[in-house]
Amino acid sequence: MLNRPQRVERQATDRGYVPIYTTAVVEQPWADYSDTDHAVWSQLFDRQHEVLQGRACDEFMAAQQAMGMSAQQIPRFSDINRVLAETTGWQLIGVEGLLPELTFFEHLAERRFPVTWWIRRPEQLDYIAEPDLFHDLFGHVPLLMNPVFADYMAAYGRGGVKAHGLGAEALLNLTRLYWYTVEFGLIRTGNGLRIYGAGILSSKGESIHCLDSRSPNRIAFDLRRIMRTRYRIDSFQKSYFVIDDFAQLFDATRPDFAPIYRDVNTLSAVPAGSILGSDKVFNRGTGEGWSVDGDV
Ligand code: PHE
Ligand code: CO
Repeated sequence: MLNRPQRVERQATDRGYVPIYTTAVVEQPWADYSDTDHAVWSQLFDRQHEVLQGRACDEFMAAQQAMGMSAQQIPRFSDINRVLAETTGWQLIGVEGLLPELTFFEHLAERRFPVTWWIRRPEQLDYIAEPDLFHDLFGHVPLLMNPVFADYMAAYGRGGVKAHGLGAEALLNLTRLYWYTVEFGLIRTGNGLRIYGAGILSSKGESIHCLDSRSPNRIAFDLRRIMRTRYRIDSFQKSYFVIDDFAQLFDATRPDFAPIYRDVNTLSAVPAGSILGSDKVFNRGTGEGWSVDGDV
């Protein structure tokens, strides 16, 4: 029996705002969405659809259309699931918010992608601290239609379960990989750099910034390098990593990570904005607008 949905957002405590983790899987309460909820979806969809022309990778744009996602109304997970079942076997599950790491990995390993059921409020169009339905569904779900990316996500889930057993350092290395690929990844195409990371795809400001600004570094994908690289959670990224194609991502992550974690953790962590001598650099960022500290 599925649980009754609750809207779970970060909560104020005496230590500031902390994210709340729940494990519940809930049925999407589609009939309960208000006109405002649907209007927020429509507005964000139209805005991003426009800004992503020539910025998102073609695979993303084509998949989003193929799965019938549109500005008209908040999609029903059941409709999306019918399409996904026929293509890559992924399924969406409704969740209330952030999941504990192990629970999240287990879902991915089973090709279940957790999607937050609730959508941000109208005053949060430009920024919301935690993932909501727009980020999860608009940003992450279309590429689950791509066979190679779909396999990468499931492999990531299995790798997460394994890293969880290896300890906190391995888990941090793997989290950085997710951050710099699934959330903030760029891809090189015949038409120049394009976006495939969901954290960018669901943000108007970062969609423009990551490609058009001279401020951030744009560096070729390198697994071990990424595993050492700290990141920003409260501002645009200082560095983006660029893959050649999804096959590169899948191939680079095929080896057993256990010895790689060991190697990588003999080296120091790299600050979010640093460039290393071994980097293949597409753009050396000017660093304009960077805050001094705050890397995670
Ligand atoms: N090959 C990785 C391991 O052994 C698993 C993994 C695959 C991790 C894909 C991330 C992405 O841990
Ligand atoms: Co995300």
